[in-house]
Amino acid sequence: MKTITSMKNSFQIVVAIAASVLMVSCFNSSRPNYQYMPNMYEPVGYETYGEYEIFPGGQEAMLPAEGTIPRGWQPYEYPNTTDGLNLAKAELKNPLPVTEASLANGKKLYDIYCAVCHGVKGDGQGILVQREKILGIPSYADPGRLITEGGIYHVQMFGLNAMGSYASQTNETERWEIVQHVMNLKASLEGTPLLVPQTEEVAAMPMESEATPSEEEH
Ligand code: HEC
Repeated sequence: MKTITSMKNSFQIVVAIAASVLMVSCFNSSRPNYQYMPNMYEPVGYETYGEYEIFPGGQEAMLPAEGTIPRGWQPYEYPNTTDGLNLAKAELKNPLPVTEASLANGKKLYDIYCAVCHGVKGDGQGILVQREKILGIPSYADPGRLITEGGIYHVQMFGLNAMGSYASQTNETERWEIVQHVMNLKASLEGTPLLVPQTEEVAAMPMESEATPSEEEH
């Protein structure tokens, strides 16, 4: 009686081993196996930079649709031409209130991005000029250049000849802060008055000067 039971047990063990061997014998670690929930492994959407016939040029990566702007950005209307620069010089004004904070940030950013060429004082004597790595850097006080707020913003957007664009390194507010600092450097070089920081309350007003209802009543 006892031997029958143990024989039955060993038979079960042999069957179990045979079954496991059968189950793993066809497994090939170099090829994907069964996927029971493929959505957890395979992306449902298109892969970044993937190649798909459905897209123009077969490329998933495309330029933004024409006429669209990234969130948090403002359209910039002046074209990247000499006329565009001259127009920006003449009519584009700084919408950002002048505060202690904006001036300080403008100086910080200027020292990071611009001073290597234009010099900490804006006299065109940056370290790259002193080491003769680059030529033709103007002083902000150069009377032939008519440097204005709008022009400083414009060249940051598009660059100008040997100067590159800073539109991808800085956002709109930061570019206007840099403009404030450059205007102050120009004023220091020319000996004219510097920008006067506003009190915090005035500066807290929104950048776009929308007429408030109380103003309309008067
Ligand atoms: C690689 C060196 C270099 C750096 C860095 C650089 N510039 Fe310039 N910048 C130039 C050169 C060169 C010119 C003269 C371009 C020309 O007129 O051909 C110039 C011209 C200018 C002008 C005069 C434009 C005009 O109206 O004639 C302004 C304003 C100016 N840069 C601002 C900036 C600001 C602000 C930054 C930092 C965000 C900056 N630059 C960074 C090289 C540089």
